[in-house]
Parts: sequence; structure tokens; C-alpha cells
Amino acid sequence: MRIDIITVSPELIKSPFQYSIIKRAIDKGLVEVHFHDLRDYAVNSYGKIDDYQFGGGAGMVLMIEPIDKCITKLTSERQYDEIIYMTPDAHVLNQQTANELSLKQNLIILCGHYKGVDQRVRELFITKEISIGDYVLSGGELGAAVLCDTVIRLIPGVLGDETSALSDSFQDNLLAPPVYTRPAEYKGEAVPNILLSGNFPKIEQWRHDKALERTQTIRPDLLNDEKNN
Ligand code: ADE
Repeated sequence: MRIDIITVSPELIKSPFQYSIIKRAIDKGLVEVHFHDLRDYAVNSYGKIDDYQFGGGAGMVLMIEPIDKCITKLTSERQYDEIIYMTPDAHVLNQQTANELSLKQNLIILCGHYKGVDQRVRELFITKEISIGDYVLSGGELGAAVLCDTVIRLIPGVLGDETSALSDSFQDNLLAPPVYTRPAEYKGEAVPNILLSGNFPKIEQWRHDKALERTQTIRPDLLNDEKNN
């Protein structure tokens, strides 16, 4: 997979790609991530990329021309499966979207900033809009990092144990069951006996029951989700 991230703050978004599972995926050649500084496509030599909004109102809007130039350069070099815009006024990211995107070859992610982008960018170039939650961030960069993390870890070969992504929370619309490790008892707090029993069908049943119980308590909305039924 190749991901091209268009941003006004490349330094802000780079570090999550330099650690842990994502770094290993890059080192193994399973994903390439490229950062594009929107100021390299500015409309003048002062690096202008934004302007006041027509009709008045607070906040600057990212201009169409720098974004057009950057996206046009990228799309002239290869075909993209999706051109994604990170913005709070969009569908909220979930595991199903992450699963779908992990099967794509080439993605562009445009990070919003200030008051957002000129609406014509959304209409002319963007194929998918994603929010990471019902709150407003200072820009789309942290959202893009979250999106990339959740997508990259699903690319086949990225996680050592192929089954571990499948047992994540949400993969079957259930929250994950509790997990324990050594010691089997700590200050009088014991690990549930069933996990020490070696009876794997029973352990699976216990995990499923706990996952269901947790979901009913914490996120009952997931159980009513259409996708589940
Ligand atoms: N930009 C600002 N807020 C955002 C959010 N919640 N999700 C994605 N991008 C954003």
C-alpha cells in the first residue's frame, strides 16, 4: 500500500510512523507513507495557502489552488483508490471502514486545517470524508495518524500473529474480553480459573460471554447495529 498525506504541518504527523508496528510495516516494505507540505504548492512566494471566507466570519479557509496542484501532481503519477478528507463533519471512522481501506493500493489523505477547505475541493477531488469522532481537533493531522494506524495494522503481514487483529475489539462488533498475564495471583487477586484450565473450547466460550457482557454494559449501541444482524 502507498499512502500520500497532504498537510500544512508535516512535522506534526510524522512521529507516529517512526515507532512500533507502523514503523515495522514500513521497514518490511508493506506500506510506503509520503508527506506533502501544502506550502510547496502555495499561490505566492510568501507561502500563501489560505484566505478569509467569502460572506465573512472568523477563521481562514484552505484555498483550492494549492490543493488542486498537489492532488493533480499525485494523480498524474498513479491511480488512487480513494482521496480522503479528514474533517469533523463526516461519517465517523469505524472498524469496517478500516477493514475496507486496508485492502486498497493507493490512498491520498488530505488534512483539513483552520476553518476547513474550500467546498469545491470536496466536490471536485474528494472521494471519501472521515471524522475520527464527534469533537473538533485543531487540524486533520492527528485524525490522519489515527486512520493510518488502524488501517496499516490490518494489512496482511503487518501483525506477526495473523489472528490477533481478528480478535481486536470491534472486529465482530463486540468489545474485547479481559486479558491476564503472569502472575496467576497478585496481592490476593486471582486470574479466573477457566483461563488456567487448558480447556480451549471452554476458554473461547468464556471469552465470548465476557465480550458480550462488556458490550452490553459499555456499548449496547454496538449490539443494535444493523451490520451485526
Ligand atoms: N479535523 C478536525 N476535527 C477532526 C475530527 N474529529 N476528525 C477528523 N478530522 C478532524
